[in-house]
Amino acid sequence: MCGIVGYVGHRSALDVVMGGLRRLEYRGYDSAGVALPHEGRIASAKKAGKLVNLDGILAEHSLPTVGSGIGHTRWATHGAPNDRNAHPHLDAGSRVAVVHNGIIENFATLRDELESSGHEMLSETDTEVVAHLLRDELDRTPVASSDEAEGTALPDAVRAVCRRLEGAFTLVITDAEQPDVVVGARRNSPLVVGRGDGENFLGSDVAAFIEYTRDAIELGQDQVVAITSDDVVVTDFDGRPAETTEYHVDWDVSAAEKGGFDWFMLKEIAEQPQAVADTLLGRHSAAGLLQLDEMRLSDDELRNVDKIIVIACGTSFYAAMVAKYAIEHWTRVPCEVELASEFRYRDPILDRSTLVVTISQSGETMDTLQAIRYARQQRARVLSICNTNGSTIPRESDAVIYTHAGPEIAVASTKGFLAQVVACYLLGLYLAQVKGTKYGDEIGAIIAELERIPAGIQRLLDDADQVRTLAAELVDSRSILFLGRHVGFPVALEGALKLKELAYIHAEGFAAGELKHGPIALIEEGVPVFVVVPPRARDQLQEKIVSNIQEIRARGARTIVLVEDGDDDVVPYADHVIRLPEVPTLLQPLVATVPLQIFACELAGLLGHDVDQPRNLAKSVTVE
Ligand code: F6R
Repeated sequence: MCGIVGYVGHRSALDVVMGGLRRLEYRGYDSAGVALPHEGRIASAKKAGKLVNLDGILAEHSLPTVGSGIGHTRWATHGAPNDRNAHPHLDAGSRVAVVHNGIIENFATLRDELESSGHEMLSETDTEVVAHLLRDELDRTPVASSDEAEGTALPDAVRAVCRRLEGAFTLVITDAEQPDVVVGARRNSPLVVGRGDGENFLGSDVAAFIEYTRDAIELGQDQVVAITSDDVVVTDFDGRPAETTEYHVDWDVSAAEKGGFDWFMLKEIAEQPQAVADTLLGRHSAAGLLQLDEMRLSDDELRNVDKIIVIACGTSFYAAMVAKYAIEHWTRVPCEVELASEFRYRDPILDRSTLVVTISQSGETMDTLQAIRYARQQRARVLSICNTNGSTIPRESDAVIYTHAGPEIAVASTKGFLAQVVACYLLGLYLAQVKGTKYGDEIGAIIAELERIPAGIQRLLDDADQVRTLAAELVDSRSILFLGRHVGFPVALEGALKLKELAYIHAEGFAAGELKHGPIALIEEGVPVFVVVPPRARDQLQEKIVSNIQEIRARGARTIVLVEDGDDDVVPYADHVIRLPEVPTLLQPLVATVPLQIFACELAGLLGHDVDQPRNLAKSVTVE
């Protein structure tokens, strides 16, 4: 959601900003714009639609070549996604330009106040009030009066305005009278600083500037940052120097490019063996002892945990469902799973011995963040599983397990999901180790099975042609169903979600045992049904699902069965068989999900959809 870029340095700001916006496209947006300070006025261009539309008008506007500027991709919240509401927003005299991510909750009051003092608003956005407030503030704050360290009044003005704003906001601002500085502010929405040599950057995430630097600074809550070409100054909203954390990004620009694939999603599906292997890497000793470096909770604290609640949204929620099966089985600690958007509204029972685990690829999902804040207020410990270093969710958690999937650019999560599932297993095994509910050699054996998974995924990727052919055969389907049992149930839900979000066709996932309680009424002649068959090791489950397959086949369903190598019991009832490598039952989601991802991606491509940026969706959902 909303991508922001700011730059000051020796390059053409327009080039840097447009390049940064391109790398942030994956966040999802519906309009875009840029602003550059030039000869005492802001030169800007903005346009509804994709960046290619903005490119189209940049030539007409002949924007100047200057060394500082800001840019934005907007995901509409207040006001329709049209040219007028696109960012940047300017004050009446075109002196300042503002871009914003988040929602300013008191904007109506501020807007009334500004209008009654003669300001005319040109858009329906909450953001525009900031440009007007800033202009008033700048007129009140002569440059000479500003603090020496920054040598400019713009940070003072931004701080004064921020103190008046309620809600969530990342703001980035340029002032035509002070072109050597770009100022950012952050409350609840993401913003990171990139430190270059004779140049500095601001971005919604590091992808915005990864081409130029991998040295980044995390900003905390309620901080204002002023960047010039050779300095970065961070304060709180009252101007007091603020503490920040510097870090080095462990992936480079090539990880954020398509590398020969048609879609980022295809590349990310192909990177899954690596994502799984990297997430396991360095987390256990040769003796099989697990070591989680970022586990900031002591063993004593973990031993006292008597309830676990795993919270997440969307695909990450399905990883949470898998976590429940594994954690309860290995630790015997009760584990609940809850949608982040529901959690804090139901008065959950939490105390010091509850461990709340949140799962988020982006680390910025607002529903999940608010759930964390609520849990911590109730004195629960919070551990986050996250793929994005420096993002808000791990920063606000007591402990973190990072997944090492690398940047996930396609809106639909794939490698992020598999890496989350691995991190959930690591957490479950670590708890089992600390609580003594599993012997070391049992943990070692599961780790050894996990280490074999990347090869299994690779085999599925190598055999993907049959899944592609199947997608071509089913391209005209109006509805596709997915069934699973045990950990196959979240896999079915994930298969259905991928298809809905990418192919825009009706898809639903069910627990296979629930079929007879209602959903079986959906089965009619020819409806495709994917069935995830549990490994033979779970013979009870396996027998039951074989009956489920018979039931739907008898009613005309076209059955596509995902079943492990060597299991032929279901073959007589399958119209199509997709073979899975043999793995322990609890680990099956790591392989069974892969053909479903490929199927959804292929089918969406055949329908001519934008696979990486499906309609109406954003990568980081930073509003509730
Ligand atoms: C689906 C998808 C979304 C995310 C959800 C949570 O493919 O990507 O459902 O899983 O928005 O996002 P994170 O994990 O960033 O909190």
